[in-house]
Amino acid sequence: MGEFAIETYDLTKCFGELVAVDHINFKVKYGEIFGFLGPNGAGKTTTINCLITLLQPSEGTAIVAGYDIIKEPDAVRASIGVIPQEVALESRLTARENLEFHAELYHVPRAEYSRLIPELLDLVQLGDRANDIIRTFSSGMKRRLEIAKAFLHQPKLIFMDEPTLGLDVQTRQVIWKYIHSLREKGVTIFLTTHYMEEADALCDRIAIIDNGRIIALGTSSDLKNKIGKGTVIDIKISGPAEAFVKAVKDLDHIPIMVNQDTIHLVAANGEQLIPKLIHIAEKTGVSINSIGMYEPTLEDVFIHYTGRRIREEGPEIRKILRR
Ligand SMILES: Nc1ncnc2c1ncn2[C@@H]1O[C@H](COP(=O)(O)OP(=O)(O)OP(=O)(O)O)[C@@H](O)[C@H]1O
Ligand SMILES: [Mg+2]
Repeated sequence: MGEFAIETYDLTKCFGELVAVDHINFKVKYGEIFGFLGPNGAGKTTTINCLITLLQPSEGTAIVAGYDIIKEPDAVRASIGVIPQEVALESRLTARENLEFHAELYHVPRAEYSRLIPELLDLVQLGDRANDIIRTFSSGMKRRLEIAKAFLHQPKLIFMDEPTLGLDVQTRQVIWKYIHSLREKGVTIFLTTHYMEEADALCDRIAIIDNGRIIALGTSSDLKNKIGKGTVIDIKISGPAEAFVKAVKDLDHIPIMVNQDTIHLVAANGEQLIPKLIHIAEKTGVSINSIGMYEPTLEDVFIHYTGRRIREEGPEIRKILRR
């Protein structure tokens, strides 16, 4: 067993003209929780589908669990567990039957799965629903069952595509706990998410992906430090925003984004900037309604590299001003 659970080499996937995954290179160590963070359409699922051999790359390749995804897809599949973005359960079967079916599919010996299934159902807090059919399950329960299913053949490497998509905060935290418990068992996890809190809470390292490209990679604090050791300042204003923004930009080379009535910027020494901002507001006839200061988040990292938010607020984003 080498050092890496996943290694990609210029992995690329095109759909016609569209380059959905664009020459990506990264390595995931055994035992790591590695996250792909990016907005809708960034190429997260396409990357996962290449790595789990559901899609053939257009160019490049990857080594997963020591096997080449193009030359040894069967060995790759036998070595991994997958939690897909779309729930893939048989709705007319019970929770237990779904797991049994999956165990048979993966040639898990009956004696072993008879012992494992109740254990896993308890782990995902579905022990009392074992004999209920999936059709009666909520989406959070289905997700939890998917997690149990992925762990059934005890793979050392699990791929999770948006494991908590659309789930409420409580359920999301329960799932985060499971994912941590898997990692404690030495399982390597590759997950995708467009929730920056999720990437922050779970991942040892994070690749930020946009338009099929990795735009930044590192630990959460690496990434936040890369945008400059600074403070994020959000200023809510009313009045002539344009003049105010222009004057702020003239002040310094401060990355700045305007979202409705909020000016968003990262400053090396926020405390010292605030009096200047107040002064500019007075000069340009803008009134400041509030000023918020906080430590940078992964969202700020994304904004830094792309000028956009991870969760696009559509028409709410009136304009994005670049330097
Ligand atoms: N089978 C396909 N045929 C054509 N285009 C596709 C196909 N699958 C994905 N795409 C396109 O590739 C790009 C990346 O899609 P992908 O599903 O990988 O994004 P994602 O990051 O998983 O997004 P989401 O957060 O919405 O799940 C998108 O522009 C999408 O429309
Ligand atoms: Mg996806």
